[in-house]
Amino acid sequence: MLDKTLITRSQDDIFEHLQEFIVAKQGEQVIGVSALHVYGSNLAEVRSLVVSPNAQRLGAGHQLVQACEVMAKQLGVTRIFALTYVDKFFIAQDYAVVAKESLPQKIWTVCIHCPKFSHCDEIAVSKAI
Ligand SMILES: CC(C)(COP(=O)(O)OP(=O)(O)OC[C@H]1O[C@@H](n2cnc3c(N)ncnc32)[C@H](O)[C@@H]1OP(=O)(O)O)[C@@H](O)C(=O)NCCC(=O)NCCS
Repeated sequence: MLDKTLITRSQDDIFEHLQEFIVAKQGEQVIGVSALHVYGSNLAEVRSLVVSPNAQRLGAGHQLVQACEVMAKQLGVTRIFALTYVDKFFIAQDYAVVAKESLPQKIWTVCIHCPKFSHCDEIAVSKAI
């Protein structure tokens, strides 16, 4: 399921945030994963979203995003975002493209440590929930 569209996360990072992850299953088989990271009551992020190539275009990605939104809403979060190369996938789910500068909680805590920080070509998308 490795894809150059996803930024690599270390095993320690994944373990540290393991409780943020949800999976999509087909029978007993995990076919997709995503994570919800909460920055505060005004902001949460859909992270590490990926669906197995042979299970794509069957609705799992949409369901994973929806599940993140439901979890965020239940926590009282009012806005959700993603940094992505598949902006059209999110726009189809009522997200809008926004300036990365509107997400300082992400940029100055996470992105600043990313090797691509100075030349990031991901697109920020966001939605009020
Ligand atoms: C993006 C991704 C998670 C979508 O998962 P999926 O299960 O295929 O998505 P869905 O089946 O729920 O798609 C729902 C709709 O989103 C849109 N969509 C899905 N994948 C898309 C893509 N790659 N580009 C543009 N639009 C896309 C389509 O409108 C689709 O409906 P349709 O199939 O009827 O046309 C999957 O393609 C993937 O894992 N990509 C590689 C990793 C990645 O880019 N992750 C995003 C990081 S933020």
